[in-house]
Amino acid sequence: MTKLTNTILVTGGAGFIGSNFVLHWIQNTGTDIVNLDLLTYAGNPDNLATLKGNSRHQLVHGDICNAELVAALLREHRPRTIVHFAAESHVDRSIVSPDAFIRTNVQGTFTLLEQAKAYWSELDEARRRTFRFLHVSTDEVYGSLGTQDRAFSETTAYAPNSPYAASKAASDHLARAYFHTYGLPVITTNCSNNYGPFQFPEKLIPLMILNALEGKRLPVYGDGGNVRDWLFVTDHCSAISAVLDRGRIGETYNIGGNSERKNLEVVRAICDLVDEMRPEGALGPRRRLITFVTDRLGHDRRYAIDASKIGNELGWRPAETFEGGLRRTVAWYLENSSWVDGVRTGAYRDWIRRNYQERIPQ
Ligand code: NAD
Ligand code: TYD
Repeated sequence: MTKLTNTILVTGGAGFIGSNFVLHWIQNTGTDIVNLDLLTYAGNPDNLATLKGNSRHQLVHGDICNAELVAALLREHRPRTIVHFAAESHVDRSIVSPDAFIRTNVQGTFTLLEQAKAYWSELDEARRRTFRFLHVSTDEVYGSLGTQDRAFSETTAYAPNSPYAASKAASDHLARAYFHTYGLPVITTNCSNNYGPFQFPEKLIPLMILNALEGKRLPVYGDGGNVRDWLFVTDHCSAISAVLDRGRIGETYNIGGNSERKNLEVVRAICDLVDEMRPEGALGPRRRLITFVTDRLGHDRRYAIDASKIGNELGWRPAETFEGGLRRTVAWYLENSSWVDGVRTGAYRDWIRRNYQERIPQ
């Protein structure tokens, strides 16, 4: 039987969390990465610029829906693990055009599972046992909580509300089924909202940092009272490493930051940090830019994660506080204006126009 290498196959490793994970992995382990990424608008090789010339990382420009390509990569690199990040990930885009979400998140995950199963079933017994397929998912599959509801646990019933959440829920169900039906050693993680370096500025935190910096209005959906739990991205990376290392196959692990915040609180905190780091007397306090706009359709009110299972079983805890992580994140965006300029292409500007033009200030 052909030997497995120590290589891991990562999908979506040029996106926000994937690229942070690749950088984290290369820094903290001695093993190699093959990184399969379609380089959609959200995938950016610049995120991995510091790995240029590093023989331990190989970026393959390709689609997880391409079964032949996935099979060929598995044959060629013989990875011991697959970490699956690749997805369409933005709720607002899923409301405007859900098709790509069904294609990548559902069909793509299915294709990857099928090819992983074919590859894994050819391995010898010992290697079949150590192989892992880690499916990276979201807390949004659980739906929306009321103010007094208990946080999502691994046994909370799925109730996805957006096309994005529904497509991720579908992929979670497929991942689960491949473990139960075929024994493929799958583990699923459901994480809360991430933030940090390299996040595409369509999401709340980077969008608000850049708008605040440039004196543009800060479009808060609805009344700004929606609550998210925030996790600094490198804490998500360390949680994934812990799950790969010690997680039990067939299990799911919820990952969260214990940092529930209302959107309005987050935006105000960003305003204050930008005021502090880039004082702009003529503009006045950035909080004045906050504009309440038409709400997102079907907007989930609150997400909260009970992360006690991963804490108790695997000893994982977030290392960063929300205040510390937000300060680092604001500083990163202010210091990396050439990265920012690189991602704000014509296609980005079209999206911003499309998503915000019709939102009426309330
Ligand atoms: P992202 O949108 O920043 O990156 C997604 C990456 O996947 C991009 O590099 C893109 O090019 C790639 N991709 C898209 N379609 C592909 C395809 N068909 N084939 C190959 N590559 C493809 O997303 P992210 O925020 O980094 O999220 C990564 C994963 O983590 C997703 O599965 C997401 O559902 C999950 N997640 C995200 C968050 C969050 O707050 N961002 C929280 C919990 C879970
Ligand atoms: P987002 O970053 O899109 O993540 P998700 O929808 O996956 O949680 O949005 C985070 C929260 O911020 C969500 O409640 C929607 C809100 N939001 C705004 O109020 N204004 C915006 O311009 C954006 C992008 C998001």
